[in-house]
Parts: sequence; structure tokens; C-alpha cells
Amino acid sequence: MKTTLITILLIFGAIEARWFGKFGRQQPKGLPVILVPGDGGSQLEANLTGKPTVVHYVCSKQTADYFDLWLNLELFSPLVIDCWTDNMLLVFNETTGLSDNMPGVDIRVPGFGTSESVEWLDKSKASQGRYFFDIVDSMVSWGYRRGKDVIGAPFDWRRSPNELNDYFIQLKSLIETTYRWNSNQKIVLVGHSMGNPMSLYFLNNYVDQAWKDKYINSFVSLAAPWAGSMQIVRLFASGYNMNYYRVILPPSHLRAMQRSFSSSAFLFPSPVAWKPHEVLASTPEKNYTVSNIQEFFTDINYLTGWEQYKQAARLNGNLTAPGVPVHCVYGTGVPTPESFSWKAGYFPDYPPYEVSGDGDGTVNKKSATVCANWIGNNQGKRVTVHEVFQADHMAILKHPNAIEVVRKAIFQEI
Ligand SMILES: *[C@@H]1O[C@H](CO)[C@@H](O)[C@H](O)[C@H]1NC(C)=O
Ligand SMILES: *[C@@H]1O[C@H](CO)[C@@H](O)[C@H](O)[C@H]1NC(C)=O
Ligand SMILES: *[C@@H]1O[C@H](CO)[C@@H](O)[C@H](O)[C@H]1NC(C)=O
Ligand SMILES: *[C@@H]1O[C@H](CO)[C@@H](O)[C@H](O)[C@H]1NC(C)=O
Repeated sequence: MKTTLITILLIFGAIEARWFGKFGRQQPKGLPVILVPGDGGSQLEANLTGKPTVVHYVCSKQTADYFDLWLNLELFSPLVIDCWTDNMLLVFNETTGLSDNMPGVDIRVPGFGTSESVEWLDKSKASQGRYFFDIVDSMVSWGYRRGKDVIGAPFDWRRSPNELNDYFIQLKSLIETTYRWNSNQKIVLVGHSMGNPMSLYFLNNYVDQAWKDKYINSFVSLAAPWAGSMQIVRLFASGYNMNYYRVILPPSHLRAMQRSFSSSAFLFPSPVAWKPHEVLASTPEKNYTVSNIQEFFTDINYLTGWEQYKQAARLNGNLTAPGVPVHCVYGTGVPTPESFSWKAGYFPDYPPYEVSGDGDGTVNKKSATVCANWIGNNQGKRVTVHEVFQADHMAILKHPNAIEVVRKAIFQEI
């Protein structure tokens, strides 16, 4: 009797396996994915609760409800853009070493735990705000379900990791619940840009090796500025038009705002990748390198920058490996600033001359390739490195080679 039942079950099993095999229905299920966006890669909403002052008569002091602050193309018209930068600003408190929103401005990040919030930065889905959409869309075609096994973890990207304690606690709990809701399958973290040094900070400071072994299958990093980016040097000196969001804004209007973001200091070029003799910026009077950063902030007349730098720039220390399997994907072959120079009388307020080197247009190759140092040095976990030629910092998100690495990682083929 028993034998018969087992035989029947075995026969059914064999028929089932053949049937699914024949019709290709036995598609393996991909591992659950959590997307960690980069600088500018999360939506922000603001409610004005009574600003003591505004920069222009057209700017509101108070609103009844939250409105879209980023990305909202309507706010980039003349005059209105000045209201926008004034609402985006952070105020650095030298006593606490932390930043606050502007007085009377309340900012929140919508969509934690959904995928749409990181697929599109603009709720109207304007093409300028297209972000993780191409990767998520590919994943849906492989059987993934938005918000179930592909989930976004947006955050206030104006801030450096030391100001995001609540976020990291939420991220840890999101990973644990996503693991449980997907039959105890480990997570694949997929980061873009600053989302990668953010994730590294999380993995090296918020969780231990046993937790990583239990919950994380692998970490796919796309276009990571592990050791910072030269674009930050220009941003602090003259302002930077943020063209990597595909939105062209006037740099002079942006400088005060960009300097105020503690995330800018977090991405300052690090001595881990820049040698003491390599010139980051020069004027006829002086060369600036990673050895005289305090002088740089003094000479651009932004002393707060040095305080921000001391708090945020070395949070990832010497960029110790994360202790989870890493698949490191980055673009090269796109002209990327290697150093900046200003003629007499033009420093720091005017756009500099730029000497180009290799990278993805935003991240220098020497910063993107820090992950190669982790090979054989990552708690016994594997590290694979994938250079994608001529993949620009944003375009890498829809590059077939990059999407293929994501596919292999989530189906555990690498
Ligand atoms: C937005 O701010 C206004 C003014 O302080 C306040 O009355 C309102 O309740 C806030 N809205 C929300 C949704 O919190
Ligand atoms: C800075 O923080 C301290 C401690 O919380 C507070 O007392 C002080 O008012 C803050 N300074 C400013 C300028 O907000
Ligand atoms: C800056 O460094 C370059 C070499 O990298 C050197 O030729 C130049 O004299 C230096 N300028 C100053 C002002 O020290
Ligand atoms: C980083 O490396 C440098 C040089 O090897 C060393 O002096 C320093 O102590 C290290 N810092 C940390 C935080 O490990």
C-alpha cells in the first residue's frame, strides 16, 4: 500500500517535471531585491509650516499640505527656482555637527517600501525623472512583482549617513520583513551611485556578519563613487549644474544649496583613492590636494564646509569590504573631470577649466574601482567586477550589460 502511494507520487512527480520542463513553466524564481537609490534619486515632499522669511515675494511661507519638492520640473522656472533652493537648503549646526531643515520647512520622503518611488523621481513620470524604471520593468518581465519582491528604499539624499540613523533602522527592518514575506529567501541589494557607499556604511556599521549571512545574498553596485567624486570639488567651489539628473539648472543658483547638503561632504574625494600629490584644484597661487582640504574650504570662503567635511567625509573610513558577495558594475570611457583650474580672479565663483580623465562622467574610474581591492579580502565572499564601456552615470541604469549582471545576480548565476 505504502509502496504504491510512493510510486504514484513519484510518477506524478516525473510527469509534472516533464510537463513543466517541456512548456518552460518551471522558471526559477528570482531572489527578492531592494533598490537603494543615489544622490537625487528619491522623491522629496515639503510642507511649509510658517517660514520666518522668504527670498522673494513669489515664495510661499506656509502651505496646507505636502507638495512635491523633488523632482518637480514646475519649480525650475525663473524666480520660483529661488524659492525651491531656499526650501531644499540644510542648515549645519556646528554644536551638534548635524544638519536641520530650514526653519518652517518640513520635509519627508514618500514611497519607502514601494518600487514606483524610485522608478520615477517625478510623479508625473516625465522622462527627465526616469530612474530605476528600466531595471524594474525588466524584472517584471522575469516574473517579479512590484512592491512584493522588488522594493525601493528611498531616503533623504541631501544628508550624509551619520544623519540617517532612522533610515538605516528602517532599512534593516525592511530587509528582514522582505526576507520573511518571500519564504525566507535572502535579499539582493541593488544600489546606484551614492546608494552604494550608503549601503556599505549600513553593512559595516548597522549589522554583524551573522545578520549579513542570514539576510543578504549579494550586493550589486551600479556606478558607485566609493571614494567620492571630483564633481564635488567643483560643486563646493562654483556650483554644479546637476546635469546628471538630465535637468539643466544654473550653477550659480545652486551653489548655496549644494554646499549645504551634508551628502556633498560625504562624497568629497577620499585619500583612499586620491594620492597626496594629485592636484584636485588649482589657481595661479595654489594647488589643492587631499592634503590641504582645510585651505580649500578657507579659500573658497566657506568655512562651514570644513566642519561638514570633518563630520561626513571619512564615514566609510578606509572603505573596508562589506562582508557580503559583491557584483561591482561601473561605466568607463566617458570624459570625467580629473582636475579643475581657475585663472587669476576667477576662483571660486566662476566655472573652472576642466582636465578630463576616465570614468562615467560623474564618478572617476579610480573611485569606481575601489571594489576591486575587495577581491580575496571580503570575509571569504566573492567579488566580481564588471566594467561597462561608455556607460554614462545615469545611462548605466538601462545598459543591457548592467541589467544582465542584475539578472545573473538575482537568479544566482554568478
Ligand atoms: C502643513 O503645515 C500646515 C501649516 O503649519 C499645517 O496646518 C498642516 O497640518 C500641515 N499638513 C500636514 C499634512 O501635516
Ligand atoms: C544647535 O544645536 C543646539 C543643541 O541642540 C541648540 O541648542 C542650538 O540652538 C542649535 N543652533 C542653531 C543655530 O540652531
Ligand atoms: C601646482 O602643481 C603643478 C604640478 O602638478 C606645478 O607645476 C605648479 O607649479 C604648482 N603650482 C603651485 C602654485 O604650486
Ligand atoms: C586608514 O589607513 C591609514 C593608512 O594605512 C591608517 O593610518 C588609518 O589608521 C586607517 N584608518 C582607519 C579608520 O582604519
